[in-house]
Amino acid sequence: MARESFANRTTAILAMAGSAIGLGNIWRFPYMVGQNGGAAFILVYLLSAIFICVPIFISEAYIGKSTQLSTFGAFEKLAPGSAWKWVGLLTVITPIIILSFYSVVGGWSLAYLFKSLTLSFTDASATQEVHGAVFGALVGNKWAGIAWLTGFLVLNFGVVTLGVSKGIEKFTKITTPILFVLMVAIVFYSLSMPGAKAGVDYLVKPDFSKINGHVMLSAMGQAFFSLSLGVGTILTYASYMKKEENLVSTGVYTAVFDLMFALIAGFAIMPAVFAAGIEPGAGPGLIFETLPYIFSTMGRDFPALSAGVAILFFTAVLFAALTSSVSMLEAGVAYFVDHKKMARGKATALVFGFCWIFGSLCCVSTRLFDFCDRLTSDFLMTFGSLLYAVFVGWRLKKADVLQEIPRPIYFIVRWIIPLVIIAIFISNLVMKG
Ligand code: PHE
Repeated sequence: MARESFANRTTAILAMAGSAIGLGNIWRFPYMVGQNGGAAFILVYLLSAIFICVPIFISEAYIGKSTQLSTFGAFEKLAPGSAWKWVGLLTVITPIIILSFYSVVGGWSLAYLFKSLTLSFTDASATQEVHGAVFGALVGNKWAGIAWLTGFLVLNFGVVTLGVSKGIEKFTKITTPILFVLMVAIVFYSLSMPGAKAGVDYLVKPDFSKINGHVMLSAMGQAFFSLSLGVGTILTYASYMKKEENLVSTGVYTAVFDLMFALIAGFAIMPAVFAAGIEPGAGPGLIFETLPYIFSTMGRDFPALSAGVAILFFTAVLFAALTSSVSMLEAGVAYFVDHKKMARGKATALVFGFCWIFGSLCCVSTRLFDFCDRLTSDFLMTFGSLLYAVFVGWRLKKADVLQEIPRPIYFIVRWIIPLVIIAIFISNLVMKG
């Protein structure tokens, strides 16, 4: 049977960008910037994204594209009978853990969409403390958190089992540009707030003394997280690419879109954070405390406008989150279907059940939430990416790889990436020890 493939390069890029652009850009990037000292973190993040992530993206995509198989099958085909196929295990475990805590944040987004629909963010006199308390109350109410998380997971489950991914993709083709335009508008609004300049300085004037092993690992981890690398998602999507398509340009386009969204989110949030006197290192709640403040002050003169912007914004965020979370769910499901020969419905229910239980635990325990958040990006995705680079750089035949991957990128994949990742891992171990 002929395998389905993306109609053209644009479709492939859109699917990959759909997976990449999500809560990682809008929620995680601003809070990571705030926790890791601002501009210096962004600098390491950009360098990692360009010099490490793009080559890894190309390597991971190469494995999928050249075999037209998803992870387990791809490694089995390229390195038959070897232990490499166990890399496939990371592509079940990691997305399931990510999806668990990601659904908590997806649930918060759903709750905030609901709050904006009930016009909760239109009171221009509401202070930053009021908005902080609203978020505090949501996180404090574990049952509400679990209910919203369940709602978000049910949406994912619906998309995957009803096979409406195509519909969702069509929708995100509309909502992602809307998100982009709204975010740019928010950037301008945020920049116009009194006191915003301190936030701009925070984003553009690096304080190099802030860079240490931990910041480097966090910045690199954030870049992996944002581009969905090291978990088999890009590999699987690339397996649907046609032969004649170019991996390098696909990687570069996806990374550019993804970076743009992250940077714009940074410039939308941080100036307002400083203007409102919010603590930049507030952690995972940062955007949920800042955005309502922006929306409600926006409504000083035009309450209807602020309500409209808030509703549109949280709707667009929800769709961006869904295209990312669905790609994780699919990665988990693909393992049970392809490798364990399980029926699709059963496999989806299994992954859903696990994420629901684990996600609920993340709702109840902030420590578990933080642990999973850090474990996946700083360790599992980074480690997965390292394995992909080593596989392409050392295990595969150079002549084959060079047909698709230009020599300088191959050199980076073979030498620079393993050395840099290992050095950063070691420096973190030494620092902790
Ligand atoms: N890149 C996604 C985001 O930024 C998260 C993600 C990670 C998606 C891993 C798929 C796999 O939101």
